[in-house]
Amino acid sequence: MACCHYFAPSEGGDDAFSVDVSAITFGSGVLAEAGDHAKAHGIRRIALMTDKGLAVTGHPAAVESSLKAAGIDVAVYDEVRVEPTDESFMAATRFAQEGDFGGFISVGGGSVIDTCKAANLYSTYPADFLTYVNAPIGGGQAIPGPLKPHIACPTTSGTGSECTGIAIFDLLSMKAKTGIVSRRLRPTQALIDPTTTYTLPNRVLAASAFDVLSHALESYTALPYSQRKAPGRPTLRPMSQGANPWSDLGCREALTILGKHLVRAVGDADDHEGRTQLMWAATLAGIAFGNAGCHAPHGMSYSVSGLVRDFCPEGYPQGAPIVPHGMSVIVNAPSVFRFTAPACPERHLEGAEWLGADIRGAGEDDAAEVLSGQIVSLMKATEIPNGLSGVGYGPDDIPALTDGSYPQRRLLENAPREISRDALSGLFQDAMAYW
Ligand SMILES: NC(=O)c1ccc[n+]([C@@H]2O[C@H](COP(=O)([O-])OP(=O)(O)OC[C@H]3O[C@@H](n4cnc5c(N)ncnc54)[C@H](O)[C@@H]3O)[C@@H](O)[C@H]2O)c1
Ligand SMILES: [Fe+2]
Repeated sequence: MACCHYFAPSEGGDDAFSVDVSAITFGSGVLAEAGDHAKAHGIRRIALMTDKGLAVTGHPAAVESSLKAAGIDVAVYDEVRVEPTDESFMAATRFAQEGDFGGFISVGGGSVIDTCKAANLYSTYPADFLTYVNAPIGGGQAIPGPLKPHIACPTTSGTGSECTGIAIFDLLSMKAKTGIVSRRLRPTQALIDPTTTYTLPNRVLAASAFDVLSHALESYTALPYSQRKAPGRPTLRPMSQGANPWSDLGCREALTILGKHLVRAVGDADDHEGRTQLMWAATLAGIAFGNAGCHAPHGMSYSVSGLVRDFCPEGYPQGAPIVPHGMSVIVNAPSVFRFTAPACPERHLEGAEWLGADIRGAGEDDAAEVLSGQIVSLMKATEIPNGLSGVGYGPDDIPALTDGSYPQRRLLENAPREISRDALSGLFQDAMAYW
C-alpha cells in the first residue's frame, strides 16, 4: 500500500474506506453497444439526453441507432445547457416526467451526464428543488431509494461524471455552483468510447484535461480518510471520504498519463493516441475523486464560474458568458497547492514528478513551488488563462468570490489544511495572476 503513514489511525478517525464504481466498458466503438446494454437493464423506452452542439459529431446518432436496432423506443432531449443551472435541470426533469421512461442514457460531457442524473432523480422522487442539494445551501436530504438505470456515455476527456454520484449546477439565485451528492446518483453503467474525443475542440480538450489534473491532485492531497471523523453509522460514510489507498492508485496513473500526453494532445488535433490516453486518465481520476473527494480548487471554482461577467471562450457555445469548469478550477490550483504543500509535502512532490517536473534535489520545503510551478508551466504551454485575471476578475471581486465559495464545506473541509475565511480570501488573492 502506497505511502501508508499518510493513513495512520487517528483518535476518533475512520478505520475503513469504501469503494464505489459504476460498471465500466472502455474501448473504441463501444457506443455501438448501447442497445444491448440498455436491453440487459430491462429498458424498453429510454430518454436519450444530449446537447445541441453535439449533433454534428454524430455521437448521439450512433447511440440512438444502436438503441433502435435493439428494439428500444427512444425519445431524444437535446436541450441540455452547457454548464447547467437549476432551471435547466428542471426543464430536463419535465421532459423525464412526461415521457414514462424505463431508463436514461446520456451522451455528452459533464453537463449532459449531470443533467441526466438530476432528471432521473427529480422525475423518480419529485421534491422542491433544494431538497436534495448539499447542505447548507440546500436541505441535504438523502435520496429515498434507487433511481432508474442510467447509462452514461462521456464525450469529453474530463469530468469523470460517468463514474461519480455527483451532479453539479449553477444555482442562479446565488450566482454560485453547488451540487447534489449521493451514491444513488452514480450511473448504472459507463460506456466510454475514447474515439468520441477526436471531435473535441482544442479549447474544450484543454479545459477538460485540467479538470482531470485537478481531480487527481486534489484527491491525492486530500485529508486522509483516517483523519475524517468516523461516521455515526457505516452507511453514512461519505463519498468525499478523503484520500485512501484505492484513490491513490487512480491518481498516480492519471497524473503520469497527463505528464506524458497533455501538452502534445492539446497541441495536435491528430494525436489520437494522446486523446485516448487522456480519456483513460479522465476515467481513472473520476473513479479516484468519486471515492476520495476534491478540495479547495474545486470549492473555489464554484464562485469563479457562478460570478462570470463577460468571459466567452473559444470552442464553447457563444451567447452566454461562461468560465468552463476545467478553467474555473485550474486558475485556483497553483495558489491552493502552494498553501496545502506544508501539510503533506511528499505528496505534492510526487504529484509534480508524475506531471513531468524534475524533482531531483528538491526537499520538502520546495514542494509548494515545485508543484505550483509545474502546473503553471503546463497552463502556459496549453494557453490556459493566466489565473483569475485571465477570466475577467480583479482584486475588487475577492469578497464576492470568497462569499460564494466559503459555504462549499464538503470540499473545503476535505483539504489537508484548515481553510479559514481569511485564508480563502488570500487564496483568491494569490490566484489573480501567475506570470
Ligand atoms: N458530476 C461530476 O462528477 C462532475 C465533475 C466535474 C465537472 N462536472 C461538471 O461538468 C460540466 C463540464 O463538463 P465538460 O467539461 O465535460 O464539458 P461540457 O459537457 O460542458 O461540454 C463542453 C462543450 O463541448 C462540447 N462537446 C462535448 N463533447 C464533444 C465532442 N466529443 N466533440 C465536440 N464537441 C463536444 C459540448 O457540446 C459543449 O459545447 C460542468 O458543469 C461541471 O461542473 C461534473
Ligand atoms: Fe471537476
